[in-house]
Amino acid sequence: MDIASRPADSDENTQIADAAPPPQAPPVIRREDYLPPAWLVPEIALDFTLGLTATRVVSKLHVARNPDGNGASTLRLNGDQITPLAVRVDGAAVSDWRLDGADLLIELSGDAHIVEVETQVNPAANSQLMGLYASNGMLCTQCEAEGFRRITFFPDRPDVLSTYSVRMTGDKTTFPILLANGNCTAQGENADGSHWAEWHDPWPKPSYLFALVAGELVSNHSTFTTMSGRKVDLNIWVRPGDEDRTQHAMDSLIASMKWDEETFGREYDLDLFNVVAVSDFNMGAMENKGLNVFNTRYVLADPETATDGDFDAVEGVIGHEYFHNWSGNRITCRDWFQLSLKEGFTVLRDQLFSADMGSEAVKRIEDVRILRAAQFPEDSGPLAHPIRPDSYQEINNFYTATVYNKGAEVIRMMRTMAGPEQFRKGTDLYFDRHDGEAATCEDFVKAIEDGAGLDLKQFRLWYSQAGTPQVSVSLSHEGSTATLKLTQKVPATPGQPDKQPMPIPLRVALFDRDTGAHAGEKLVVLDKPSDTFTFDGFAKPPVLSINRGFSAPVSIDFDREAEDLVFLAANDDDPFARYEAMQNLVVQHLVTAVSGGLSDETRAAGRAAIGKAFTAILTDPALDDLMRGELMILPAEGYLAEQMLIADPGAIHTEREALKAWLGRECADDLTALHDRAVAVPYSRDAAARGARKIKNQALVYIAAGNAQEGARRALDQYRAADNMTDRQGAVLVLASLDVPEREEALADFRSRYEGNALVIDKWFSLQAGSFHPEVLANIRKLAEHPDFTMTNPNRVRALYMAAAVNPKAFHDASGDGYRLIGDLIRRLDPINPQTAARFVPSLGRWRRIEPVRAAMMREELERIAAEPSLSRDVREQVSKSLG
Ligand code: ARG
Ligand code: ZN
Repeated sequence: MDIASRPADSDENTQIADAAPPPQAPPVIRREDYLPPAWLVPEIALDFTLGLTATRVVSKLHVARNPDGNGASTLRLNGDQITPLAVRVDGAAVSDWRLDGADLLIELSGDAHIVEVETQVNPAANSQLMGLYASNGMLCTQCEAEGFRRITFFPDRPDVLSTYSVRMTGDKTTFPILLANGNCTAQGENADGSHWAEWHDPWPKPSYLFALVAGELVSNHSTFTTMSGRKVDLNIWVRPGDEDRTQHAMDSLIASMKWDEETFGREYDLDLFNVVAVSDFNMGAMENKGLNVFNTRYVLADPETATDGDFDAVEGVIGHEYFHNWSGNRITCRDWFQLSLKEGFTVLRDQLFSADMGSEAVKRIEDVRILRAAQFPEDSGPLAHPIRPDSYQEINNFYTATVYNKGAEVIRMMRTMAGPEQFRKGTDLYFDRHDGEAATCEDFVKAIEDGAGLDLKQFRLWYSQAGTPQVSVSLSHEGSTATLKLTQKVPATPGQPDKQPMPIPLRVALFDRDTGAHAGEKLVVLDKPSDTFTFDGFAKPPVLSINRGFSAPVSIDFDREAEDLVFLAANDDDPFARYEAMQNLVVQHLVTAVSGGLSDETRAAGRAAIGKAFTAILTDPALDDLMRGELMILPAEGYLAEQMLIADPGAIHTEREALKAWLGRECADDLTALHDRAVAVPYSRDAAARGARKIKNQALVYIAAGNAQEGARRALDQYRAADNMTDRQGAVLVLASLDVPEREEALADFRSRYEGNALVIDKWFSLQAGSFHPEVLANIRKLAEHPDFTMTNPNRVRALYMAAAVNPKAFHDASGDGYRLIGDLIRRLDPINPQTAARFVPSLGRWRRIEPVRAAMMREELERIAAEPSLSRDVREQVSKSLG
C-alpha cells in the first residue's frame, strides 16, 4: 500500500501532534544532565490485538521506585503521537493523569505499583517506520532509538531494563506467523478465526530492543550447537518466494556464532534466534534480542541477483547484529550519548570477523575507504561531533560514521597498542564486569585499561575531541641515523575551538632502498604536539612507510618524492601501505593539477610515475586479483576534495576523468589482456573467481575511459554472457556512463529481466543516478516520475537520490540543479520520513569547503529548506547546524 497517498488525518493518532506542533528550536539534550530514572520497571506484560490499520496495545508495567533516583512521586512515561485510552493503577481506573507535551504523567503514592495503559496505533499510516508499522502486508517494529514510545507509554530510555512478556492475537490468514523476543511459551486458536501466541524473554532489556513481527513468512531453518553444547534453533524469515535467497545469510549467521565463541569467548544465550527480512526499513538492520529485524538488502543474496559486494555486506551485517547480542544487549548503553559503546565496538567486531572470513588486507582497505568517504568529511564539516557526543536535538541524527566507524577505529587503536591477546583480556573483563548493566564508554575504557594493562588517561581524549588529527611528517638522515619528526594538530570543530594533543599510535617501517627490505616494523606513539624518533643503521636515506595498516584514523601530511611512492607501491610488504602509496601518488598529482600547478612537463612526469606504478599493479604475478582490483581504484572525488581547503568539484572531476582516460589508453594492452584473462574464469564464490570478477570490472572501467567504443563493445559482450550479478552490474555500470546505443539495450534488458525484484530494481535506479552520463540530471528527474519510484520506501529513495547526492557529476553540476534536486527531495520527504530525509542534509552542508559560486547555491538550498514552516526535528537540527 502506498502510505504517502493517505491523507494525513486518516491517522487517528495525530491529535496530540496537531494540538502541540513541534517548537521551532527543539530542546538540546546534554550528556552532563544525565540523571538516573526515578522509577524502574522490572517487569512488563504487553498484549497486542493486531490489525494493519488499528492495533490495540494493553501494557502492564510493574513499576518500582529507584533507590538511586530522585524520589519523585510522579511517574513519567514517554509517548510520541499516541493517546492514553485508559489508565489503571493497581487495577483501578484513574483519571488524574496528565500530559506534559507527549509524555504521560501519573502520580503514585507508594514505592511499587502496577500501572496499565491502553493505546491504539495505525501501523499502515506510520510512514516514519519508527514504532509499529506495516510493510508489505506484515507488521513489524523498529524501536531504537525512541520508537517504543510510539507504541505505548514507557520510560523509553536505555537504562530502564525490564523482563518482557508479550501476548499477541491476530487474524490467522493475515498474520500466520507471530514473533517476539525470547521464546514462544504458548500459542492457540480462537473460535473467530484469529490465533494468539505468547512470548517471554528471560533477559532484562531496555525498550529499544523490543520487537514484534506478524505476517505471512516462511523460514530457512537450521541449528547451531554452542560451545557448552546447547542447541539453538535458527530461522531466517522472509516473504514466500524469497526463501531461495537466504542460504548465504544462514551460513553467515552460523559462522558469526562460531567466530564470537572462538575470538571473544561469547556464547549465545537463548534457545532460539530469529532474523526477519523487511523491505521497508530506515537503516541496515536491528539487533532486537533474539529477533533481529533486517532490511531485505542485508539478507537476500544469490549469484543471479547479488554482487560479490552484496554477499560481503550480508555477511558483515548479519555478523554485526549477531555480535550486538553481547556488545549491545547483554551490556547496553546508559544513555544515547554512549551509543559508540555498542556501535563502535560492534563495528570493530564485525570488521575483524569479515577479515577472518575473507582477505584481511582487502577488508582493511575497504574499511579505510569507507571511513575516508563518509567520516572524514563529517569530521571536517559543520556536523562534526566526538564519538561520544555532548549534546543532541534528535538522537537519530547521531547514528553517524563518526559514532560507528571512527568509534571502531578508536577501539582498534587500543587493540593495536595492547596487542590482540592483552586486548582480549580487556574485553573479557568488560563483559564480566558489566554483564546485565547499562554502561558508559568510560566503563569500557576502564575495563580495557585494567584488563589489557594500558594507561589510557590521555587516550580518553579520543572520546571527547572531534576532528581528524593531522600529522605532519618529515624524515632526515645524517651519518647512519634516520630521524623521524612528527607534529600533530587536531583541527577546531564546532563548539571545540582548542584541542589537546592525543596519543596517536603509528606503525612504521623504514625500507632500505637497495634491498627493498626493512629491519622490522615499530610502533611509535605520538602523544605530544611534536616529537622525534631516531632509527640507526642506514647508510643511505631510507624510504618511510608510516601509518601502516592505517593504525590511527588521522591524515598524514608528508611531502615526498613520487619516486618513493612508486617504490612503496611496488615493494611495501604491508598491503594497506602499498595501497596508500598508490593513492598518495595519484592524490599528489591530481591535487596539484586541480590547483593549476602543473606545466605540460610536470603533468607528463606525474602521469609517467603513476603509469609505471599502475602497470606494475596490472602485471605483478605475486598479487592476488582481489588485492590487484583494490589497488586499481583511483581516490574518490570526495576524498580529493577533502585534501583542499576550498575545492572546485568541476575541476576535480575533469582532472580525475582525464587521468583515468590516459591510463586507459596508456595501459590498453595490459588492461585488455587482464579483461580477457578474467572473462575466461568461470563463476564460483571462491577467492580466485571473485578476484577475477573484481579486476574484470575494474579493467572495463579503464578500457571504456580510454576508448568508449571498445569499452562499450566489451561491456555489452560481458553483459550478454553474464551468469551472475557482479558481471552484469559491472557491465551496466560502464554502459550507463556512455552515450552509446549499447546503453539502452543493456538498461532495458536489465529492467525487464528483474521486473518485480525490488532489490535489483533499486540497482537499476542507482546505476543510472550514479552514472557520469552527460544527461544524468535529466535522467534522474525522469526516473523520479517512473511508476516504480516511490517516496515511501527508503531503499528506493536512497537508490535514486543517495546515488545522485554522492555522484559528483550530478550533485555538483555547475547549473546548481543537483543541489536543487536534493533540496526538493528533503522538503518532500521530510513529512513522510524525517529520519531518512535528514540523511541528505550533510551533502549540502559541505558548502563552506566548496568554491564560492557553487557554495552560494548550496547555501541557498539549505535556506529554502530552513524556511519551511513545519520541519521535523531531524531535518531542523541538521539544517540549522549546517547554516550556523
Ligand atoms: N542498532 C542498529 C545497528 O546499528 C541501528 C538502528 C538505528 N535505528 C535508528 N532508527 N536510528 O545495528
Ligand atoms: Zn549496530
